[in-house]
Amino acid sequence: MKNRPELLTKLSGAGAPQGTGGTPPAAAPAAGTIKPLPEDALILIPLRNAVLFPGVLSPITVGRASSVTAAQEAVKNEARVGFLLQHDPQKTDVEPADLHWVGTAGAIVRYITGTEGGHHLVVQGESRFRVLEFLDGWPFLVGRVALVEQPHAEGPGIEARFLQLKEQAIEAIGLLPHVPDELADVVRGIDSPAGLADMVANFMDVKSEEKQDILEIFDLEHRLDKVIGLLSARVEVLKLSREIGEKTRAQFDERQREHVLREQLRQIQKELGESDDTAAEVEELKKAMDTAGMPEDILKHGQKELKRLQRMGEGGSEYSMLRTYLEWLTELPWKPAPQQPIDIDAARRVLDEDHFGLDKIKRRILEYLAVRKLNPEGKSPILCFAGPPGVGKTSLGQSIARATGRAFQRVALGGVHDEAEIRGHRRTYIGALPGNIIQAMRRAGTTNTVMMLDEIDKVGAGGFHGDPASALLEVLDPEQNHKFRDNYLGVDFDLSRVMFICTANVLDTIPGPLRDRMEVIQLPGYTQEEKIQIARRYLVKRQLDSNGLKPEQASLSDAALAAIVADYTREAGVRNLEREIGSVLRHAAMRVAEGKAQQVTVDTPDLASILGARRFENELALRTSTPGVATGLAWTPVGGDILFIEAAKVPGNGKLILTGQLGDVMKESAQAAVTLAKTWTGDSLDKLDIHVHVPAGATPKDGPSAGVAMFLALVSLLTGKPVRSDVAMTGEVSLRGLVLPIGGVKEKTLAALRAGIRVVMLPRRNEKDLEDVPAEAREKLQFVWLDRVEDAVRCAIGDIAPAGERAAA
Ligand SMILES: Nc1ncnc2c1ncn2[C@@H]1O[C@H](COP(=O)(O)OP(=O)(O)OP(=O)(O)O)[C@@H](O)[C@H]1O
Ligand SMILES: [Mg+2]
Repeated sequence: MKNRPELLTKLSGAGAPQGTGGTPPAAAPAAGTIKPLPEDALILIPLRNAVLFPGVLSPITVGRASSVTAAQEAVKNEARVGFLLQHDPQKTDVEPADLHWVGTAGAIVRYITGTEGGHHLVVQGESRFRVLEFLDGWPFLVGRVALVEQPHAEGPGIEARFLQLKEQAIEAIGLLPHVPDELADVVRGIDSPAGLADMVANFMDVKSEEKQDILEIFDLEHRLDKVIGLLSARVEVLKLSREIGEKTRAQFDERQREHVLREQLRQIQKELGESDDTAAEVEELKKAMDTAGMPEDILKHGQKELKRLQRMGEGGSEYSMLRTYLEWLTELPWKPAPQQPIDIDAARRVLDEDHFGLDKIKRRILEYLAVRKLNPEGKSPILCFAGPPGVGKTSLGQSIARATGRAFQRVALGGVHDEAEIRGHRRTYIGALPGNIIQAMRRAGTTNTVMMLDEIDKVGAGGFHGDPASALLEVLDPEQNHKFRDNYLGVDFDLSRVMFICTANVLDTIPGPLRDRMEVIQLPGYTQEEKIQIARRYLVKRQLDSNGLKPEQASLSDAALAAIVADYTREAGVRNLEREIGSVLRHAAMRVAEGKAQQVTVDTPDLASILGARRFENELALRTSTPGVATGLAWTPVGGDILFIEAAKVPGNGKLILTGQLGDVMKESAQAAVTLAKTWTGDSLDKLDIHVHVPAGATPKDGPSAGVAMFLALVSLLTGKPVRSDVAMTGEVSLRGLVLPIGGVKEKTLAALRAGIRVVMLPRRNEKDLEDVPAEAREKLQFVWLDRVEDAVRCAIGDIAPAGERAAA
């Protein structure tokens, strides 16, 4: 403000514009009423809504008669005009009080009368002025004024503000949508801070009142601050609005972009001939889903996933994962298949067709089916076939499926110790799949399925990877299995209509809760006669077939078959038997193929050259021909077996050496047998070491039931008399010489029969188990019931009295 007073100069003073100070034109209009203005006066035109700034060229429209006259008078006299903003834009007849007293004087450079009678001026603003007083006597406003000189202010304060304003102005121009870029160049070229401030003030879209405020600030620094302040506010607003504009554009662009990309993708796929595939794939899945008969909530879930697939667009790994999932979902048998009523007679025929013998077992199966027939929705127990390998457990399951018109699926559980193998992995795992139950259901394609859970006794114990047994429990439990949840599927699947059958070699290793849900059917194994029948009726036929032979081209004599059963196999089931028959028939096939024979009949003498030396009966006679060897009978998970117990003596000091992978119980039983033998023979054995060995490979053996056999081997050793080779025995001994009962009579008896034994010695207290022994074995074997060890000695070695009796005698 300090220099304001000097800025004010009388118009009559220095710098008076040219033309204004001149004498009024002599030729005044005819009216002659307009008198010349005093030297320091200006014609004034009021403006309703605009502010003229010095240095700015600006269009101004005038409408009021007084203003038109004023403009014309100015043009005529080439006089300058002062423009003043009125306070109230609405007011037409303005008094001095209605006006701002500071304005800009300028020259009218153009005067245009429009076609419709409007008057337009183009005015070049020149300098600020202040009205000193209004003068009367003219048909327009006239006032004595003082011009405000533009100061040539300099200094760092001005310079800094000048640069800042310039920068801001250029930025603002950049933000304004419809401003030509050249304007920025113009701004850059301005070298006067005052000129820049006025120009910016002129262009700024602020209210006229605000522009007037700027006009009235004579101090340059102050004015620059004001303009900078206003402009920066405008720039913020401009920036904001641009940002908003960009955002909305961005949203629009994103949709647009996706659409364009999809369109391009479609075109590319069309070019590659793929477009139909993808669409068809989704369409196919959709159709499959609609017809799969899923429960409502699962269908909804599936449809949601399908929509996700559709949106995803082909190609990504996630796409193919989701597609695989949807394929699993749609291909499962959701619809309960109508169950064929069970025809018991037909079922019996099928079972008889597929399997020889097994009468008791077939009867149990038919009973089971009858119950199911009467009460199809009822919770029938789960059948479990238990027995040694090759006795027909799996094939019986297949027969049941055939007999009831169901699909058959086998799920191998041997060695499964990860719960996920049964229940699947979550979909989030790479390469996740459903567990083997759901996999089997998809393979079956119908709820009308017999699902065989094979080797359920070999399921690994639960541990780090969860407990497979508990998952199986859920599968088998009728209370739970209508809502079986596989981790991969992630939805419940109803297993309640599936007929589950389990198989096992042994029952001990099946977890209790699982075993509780099963109805166990034991398959103990076959007698030799049964095996011959099975071979005759099934195995030979099958092997002929698989070796490409017609029945008339090759055959096996009855004697040969019996010899294979007796001398070349020693098993509860018939798997090895079938293998040996296969070998024999392959040999026959060779001869037929070579043209050496039209028809081959294999007889007993041929077997040695085809299958090698007899494997089993030899052993029995050979082994037991020397004293110190007894034939025991053992029970193993693969059926009964015979067991040779060998005893030897060497000079020593009464040690007992035990070898042959014996378990603790068997070792103790051996010690008991030695003690008993000492007392029985009266030999203290203190000059000898006794060695008891139980051969037969590396199989671990345990249990007390070899006690009698060990005792007999020792007695035989010590008396030098061999044990009869056609006698086999089993039974626990007490130190007092009592023979105690054992288990597995049926299996052991069958094993004895297979091995060519004629006499079986069993504990007396096992006599009740004889009814379990197959009739054929009962007929062919002689049973000796043991109360005490001397009964066994008498029968197997001969009439030797115990030491005490001998002494007494
Ligand atoms: N009674 C029988 N009549 C006809 N064939 C039989 C009989 N028993 C078993 N077989 C046949 O013996 C073969 C072996 O049977 P299967 O595979 O069912 O044995 P498994 O008991 O399941 O043995 P594993 O415990 O080793 O699985 C099959 O080909 C089966 O048809
Ligand atoms: Mg099997």
